[in-house]
Amino acid sequence: MIKKQITIPSILGKKNSGNKIAALTAYDFCFAQILEETDVDIVLVGDSLGMVTLGYESTLPVTMDEMIHHIRAVKRGLHHPLLVGDMPFMSYQVSNESAVKNAGRIIQEGGAGAVKLEGAGPMTERVRAVAQAGISVMGHLGLTPQSIHQFGGYKVQGKNYLDARQIKKDAFDLQKAGAFALVLEAIPQELAREITKELQIPTIGIGAGPHCDGQILVLNDMLGLNREFTPKFVKRFAELGDMAKSAVNQYIQEVREGSFPDQDHSYDMPQKPLRQAGNEKPGS
Ligand code: KIV
Repeated sequence: MIKKQITIPSILGKKNSGNKIAALTAYDFCFAQILEETDVDIVLVGDSLGMVTLGYESTLPVTMDEMIHHIRAVKRGLHHPLLVGDMPFMSYQVSNESAVKNAGRIIQEGGAGAVKLEGAGPMTERVRAVAQAGISVMGHLGLTPQSIHQFGGYKVQGKNYLDARQIKKDAFDLQKAGAFALVLEAIPQELAREITKELQIPTIGIGAGPHCDGQILVLNDMLGLNREFTPKFVKRFAELGDMAKSAVNQYIQEVREGSFPDQDHSYDMPQKPLRQAGNEKPGS
């Protein structure tokens, strides 16, 4: 099968043709290779990296260098899906200049095809600056985890009329500023449906119901690798955490009882002892 390169125009084309966009996160080379063998459209190296892979309590401590390190690892295993690199906390909030500079690093050093940043309001100007610098940028509205302290926890956003109206306005502002797509996280499905219907750019939902143009999940959540925190919107498509644990327990048992390694997993000496073979003349 000849695989097609997923580009920004092909993502926009999916909205226009009504084909759903399937997106997932990834953080390392191993899973990037697995995703490369699938038909996934977008792979996001999210700053969820901090919680999923680095063991931080939130996404806030994640640095640009950590992001670049992981985006490069994913890039080595991923060739066809669109690779998007997340901009971590404080890499774009301070000024348009820092936003463009750090977005440029994600593209140039990380090898991503686009960047994502959270929020609207003052961040709309960051989106505009990054887009005007020629870098494709994805917006992110609703529950934006970098604002977790302002929200007072991981809570569904846009539940009352005023908040919903603000999120909708922000979505239009980001589109106008040049965002090529929008992640909608943890908002009521009715609101996501309305935004999706009225925007020209695709919406990619996570906890935003079925009416978005696409969906994204954190890979480790949907594979059952992250078992401590499971929001309502996460469906576990596998239980790899349980499988990994039972494989490791089996290994320990076999090592301790001496049944591993067996003959199938051990090397034999060559027919003649190595020392003798080394002394032979060529051709003899
Ligand atoms: O950081 C992340 O993984 C994200 C997705 C959940 C959209 O922002």
